Amino acid sequence: MKNQCIIRHEEKTDYEEVENLVRESFWNVYRPGCMEHYVLHCFRDDSGFIPELDYVMELEGKIIGHIMYSRSEIKLDKGGVLPAITLGPVCVAPEYRGRGHGKMLINTTLEAARGLGYGAVILEGNIKFYGRCGFTRAKDKGVRYAADPEADYLLCLELIPGYLEDVKGTFTDPEGYSVCQKDPEGFEKFEAGFPYREKKKLPGQLQP
Ligand SMILES: CC(C)(COP(=O)(O)OP(=O)(O)OC[C@H]1O[C@@H](n2cnc3c(N)ncnc32)[C@H](O)[C@@H]1OP(=O)(O)O)[C@@H](O)C(=O)NCCC(=O)NCCS
Repeated sequence: MKNQCIIRHEEKTDYEEVENLVRESFWNVYRPGCMEHYVLHCFRDDSGFIPELDYVMELEGKIIGHIMYSRSEIKLDKGGVLPAITLGPVCVAPEYRGRGHGKMLINTTLEAARGLGYGAVILEGNIKFYGRCGFTRAKDKGVRYAADPEADYLLCLELIPGYLEDVKGTFTDPEGYSVCQKDPEGFEKFEAGFPYREKKKLPGQLQP
């Protein structure tokens, strides 16, 4: 149907198109250039990757959005860990933004995650955006970011009501998110396979 968005699982034949989409979507947003396409590329072989929650959004045969989730955990102060999942990268192609696609992609896949029995989602992100999908500050629930305990940008969402009730603990990003720092040469080699784009320093970027 015309103008009808489809949200479906990513398939192997989508990988190249999706990695290009992710690169276009994140380019110069958080730093000059971006690394998220390599993070996604490597995550697909990571044991923490959740293929059942790897989705694309398609409009008239073109992939305009992508989202992935990975397994994560909260290290409890009292000992032990509480399993959780982490969302991201998520993106919508620049020319399709601001029309509710991002929110639809997130809300639809959160429902899928709930259906699979996951208890909570933890992520680093902007409350102004993720708050619209029900996320709240993790520290208000007793979950602190290991790298920055007072962080306001660590967000959480219970998929099972009460899952984070009385939880006190710390969250560390799954290892898969730091692949570019761990393997800068692998990243450079991967990035060299994409068309040239100018890296720009822009206001609002988080990293130099
Ligand atoms: C973030 C992103 C996925 C949002 O996609 P989108 O299709 O534009 O989002 P929506 O149109 O569904 O917006 C949903 C709501 O969030 C708001 N919003 C969107 N992007 C926002 C941002 N960067 N900051 C604050 N609010 C934002 C919208 O105003 C909208 O609010 P409303 O529900 O009151 O109308 C898209 O901008 C993107 O791909 N950005 C680059 C990659 C990125 O930053 N990904 C997220 C971090 S992993």
